[in-house]
Amino acid sequence: MDPQDIPLHRLYHDLAYLWPAMSPPEDYAEEAAHWRAVLRERLGPGRHRLLELGVGGGHNLSRFADEFEVVAADLSEAMLAHSHRLNPSVEHVVGDMRSLRLGRTFDAVLIHDAISHLTTEDDLAATFATAAAHLEAGGLFIATPDDYRETFRSPRVTHDTGTHGDLALTYVEFAHDPDPDDTTLETLFTYFITEKGRLRIEHDRFLTGLFPRATWRRLMAEAGFEVETRAFELEGGVPYEMLVGTKAGRPTA
Ligand SMILES: C[S@@+](CC[C@H](N)C(=O)[O-])C[C@H]1O[C@@H](n2cnc3c(N)ncnc32)[C@H](O)[C@@H]1O
Repeated sequence: MDPQDIPLHRLYHDLAYLWPAMSPPEDYAEEAAHWRAVLRERLGPGRHRLLELGVGGGHNLSRFADEFEVVAADLSEAMLAHSHRLNPSVEHVVGDMRSLRLGRTFDAVLIHDAISHLTTEDDLAATFATAAAHLEAGGLFIATPDDYRETFRSPRVTHDTGTHGDLALTYVEFAHDPDPDDTTLETLFTYFITEKGRLRIEHDRFLTGLFPRATWRRLMAEAGFEVETRAFELEGGVPYEMLVGTKAGRPTA
């Protein structure tokens, strides 16, 4: 089978029902604790207003959503439905992080792993402009790309098994960089899905972005952010890097 024949991003559309088994909310406890710590450190106590772009199933968000006033956006209605079930206190809207304009501002704009779906510098610049448009001066912007040009080693193969209700899923993920001169990474997935004792197999393909750290920082700075990097180690020594931007300018009032 030619990988090009596999449709893109089925996980967010016809296969969205797999998401809770593939990446259960419980798995986000450690990662979300870092998000919460940075939010609290920068915003202080209180029910601050957050906007999450590309919220997906809202699994990371679910670990701190109830402490804040949250609006969450995503391109995929199927993924928003997952997040809505998990995060009933959150206002959900369909929207593209590159162009969304809600006409209101927030204390912080968050983009978790969804930012990895941006594959060109123009898309990054447009998304950073969206973040800036939803913040006042001094506002906080946090993003966590899955991969950086400096750290990705091709190929990367991972697999896992999970369950959700009657569904059991094992997936194998093969991420590779067919053209080291461009800014994209291709990931091929095989899903082994067992429901009511019957096994079926589905394939999926992702195109995600692969940029050097300097590109992220330059484009965030051009969008009006002062940028710092927060680096953590997750359990098992897994490195985790957060891009933390502060919208430049003098805060009003
Ligand atoms: C891996 S999922 C996010 C999972 C999420 N972090 C969680 O904890 O459940 C990535 C999401 O990014 C969304 N996405 C991709 N490109 C987008 C765009 N341009 N604007 C908004 N959402 C986008 C997809 O629809 C998908 O729901």
